[in-house]
Amino acid sequence: MATIINIRDIARYEGQEVTLRGWVYNRTDKGKLQFIQLRDGTGIAQCVAFRKEMAEAEFEIASKLTQESSIIVTGAVRKDDRAPGIPGGYELGIKSLQLIQMADEYPITPKEHGVEFLMDNRHLWLRSSRQWAILRVRATIVREIRNWLDDHGYLLVDTPIITPAAGEDTTTLFSIDYFGEPAFLAQTGQLYNEANMAAFGKVYCFGPTFRAEKSKTRRHLMEFWMLEPEMAFFSLEDLMEMEEQFISHIVQTVLEKHQPELKILERDTSRLENVLPPFPRISYDEAVERLNKRAAEIKDPEYRAQVEIEWGTDFGSPHETELTQMFDKPVFVYNFPSVFKAFYMQPVEGRPEVCRSVDLLAPEGYGEITGGSERIWDQALLEKRVAQMGIGREAYAWYLDLRRFGSVPHAGFGLGLERTVAWICGLPHIRETIPYARMLNRKYP
Ligand code: 4AD
Repeated sequence: MATIINIRDIARYEGQEVTLRGWVYNRTDKGKLQFIQLRDGTGIAQCVAFRKEMAEAEFEIASKLTQESSIIVTGAVRKDDRAPGIPGGYELGIKSLQLIQMADEYPITPKEHGVEFLMDNRHLWLRSSRQWAILRVRATIVREIRNWLDDHGYLLVDTPIITPAAGEDTTTLFSIDYFGEPAFLAQTGQLYNEANMAAFGKVYCFGPTFRAEKSKTRRHLMEFWMLEPEMAFFSLEDLMEMEEQFISHIVQTVLEKHQPELKILERDTSRLENVLPPFPRISYDEAVERLNKRAAEIKDPEYRAQVEIEWGTDFGSPHETELTQMFDKPVFVYNFPSVFKAFYMQPVEGRPEVCRSVDLLAPEGYGEITGGSERIWDQALLEKRVAQMGIGREAYAWYLDLRRFGSVPHAGFGLGLERTVAWICGLPHIRETIPYARMLNRKYP
């Protein structure tokens, strides 16, 4: 019996007889020779069926194999620099072939397909090498998020998905019927994180979050994964220092581990090599100044109007795109106007119209990937803010308790996993960064 191996490890088996199990990615018919590109989830290897070296019946099957048919093949591994594949450079000379299932006509062929068609067939599209590459990078990002935090004294403390009240703004809540009472899907784990922070010091939660945002942009999902660290006795400056170390670690690890995937994605990796601390920091005031200066240089009046910005308004995509193009690294923008930021953000001393908040904008036009702040830790002020939100205090009573029993200055942020994956992989749209995207017009499959 030949050893069953993963295609990823094929180079280690040169000259040996092995068994591969997987799906036919592609097949080229050269009469007596069949070149089968076999995919097993860990890689793709060229397997060559040669009439003279196999049982006649098995060769017959090989020469009829359809795309995505499942097979088991056994043969010797040989080195051949011309052999395509992932990793490539080795092929298998088939001695025996077992058909598991001859696939029906596969809807996704090497020809071009429209995005909506591919999204309708997402359950199959995941098998394509681009999608394979993206989701492998995503898995590493998830792992390195956890690794870095676990190695730096942060404790994973999970937060609930079903919640009695809003965690961010009240306009983007998905409501559910909780035994006859209203409840909502979590928009953030932050408020619970703050309770956990007071119990454990440095904590994080990492899970799916839900926003009923009626936005149809390349950056918005209705269900996305958010990583949220929360730290006791952290200032905004501490937060920025931590974020730049953390983000740099993730990017550098992806570069180290995923060259083949980044090559499939045609990612310009030189733009990522640069992602090392320190990241530039500019205030919202400076950002507005820079944007208006930039706008003055723009000839097209329509686009100029999109880049111009009045102090006190939130950034739109053109603002973020322009700002990030002024820097070759992610850039922090801090001290935003309080009017468009969340109720829990600490006002700047002596200048209450702005708050101790910071967003991290990814370069190359990707824009906001993290949003965070110092939290209001004074009980009276937080009471006032909750009252201003115009929803019952009862739902927030537990949150307000945190300011009664050993309140401390603290800070935290949220990182959007999918936006981070889109940036690191260099993707134009967020929809391919998650296995099954939930968007304004899509919840299938
Ligand atoms: O800035 P946001 O709304 O922050 C919070 O929810 C805070 N409670 C986090 C915290 O401080 N603990 O969201 C954080 C990040 C954004 O920077 C963005 O990357 C991502 O979450 N995000 C989305 N990603 C995809 N689709 C959406 N609809 C998103 N909304 C936010």
